[in-house]
Amino acid sequence: ANGIIEIPVVVNVLYRTAAENISLAQIQSQIDVLNADYSGTNPDAANVPTIFQGVKAGDVGIRFVLDQVIRKATNKTSWTTNDAMKKTSGGGLNPTSPTTKLNMWCCNLSGGILGYAQFPGGSSATDGVVMDNNAFGVTTTGAPYNKGRTATHEVGHWLNLRHIWGDAQCGNDLVSDTPLHTGANYGCPAAGVRSTCSGTPVMMTMNYMDYTDDLCMYMFSAGQKARMKATFATGGGRTGF
Ligand code: ARG
Ligand code: ZN
Ligand code: CA
Repeated sequence: ANGIIEIPVVVNVLYRTAAENISLAQIQSQIDVLNADYSGTNPDAANVPTIFQGVKAGDVGIRFVLDQVIRKATNKTSWTTNDAMKKTSGGGLNPTSPTTKLNMWCCNLSGGILGYAQFPGGSSATDGVVMDNNAFGVTTTGAPYNKGRTATHEVGHWLNLRHIWGDAQCGNDLVSDTPLHTGANYGCPAAGVRSTCSGTPVMMTMNYMDYTDDLCMYMFSAGQKARMKATFATGGGRTGF
């Protein structure tokens, strides 16, 4: 009625070590960050620079509710991006009700990968978001990726957002109110840094769909909000929600 979409979240935890078997508190901390970021109530939203205040999304209108946590012990030391964690036959866990619930898998991803997601329109058998256990939720270790923003970014992909640099030099992210970016930005760039693209616009390095540190990303744009909300409409790939 108020236009808020509620997403039930199933968290599938695959663990070999005790540290990989993340606590319910850590899981809930991730849900809390998602709710803050997707409602625009994240405290660091106040850091959005003046030049981008007119295009910030504010409340994206999506909320996340922890539906269930499914845990499974494994002897696998690490996982890759081949989706094995999403398959019982691969030693993982099949998704639960993937057309009506967001499935997240938390496991030890190899190669420093923080997470990856499936865009709308793919197979429901592999639909959802995969997260490294060290980047899941808010923790005291794992800086600079320990404030829950990897999931904010991955859920952005799951809702059809592209990287802000369009995965190419000065590429197109299919969102008109985000500026052209030379490429991915890392760390915590100074305010006002410009791209080398046409018109040399100031880059929106604090956007969740860049690659900056968790503490240095704190906004979606209005255009990104519209693109995410469109996935819930007919043909958008997320109509089950
Ligand atoms: N590398 C990941 C991806 O492309 C996520 C990067 C998240 N960045 C962060 N600051 N947490 O999907
Ligand atoms: Zn990404
Ligand atoms: Ca753009």
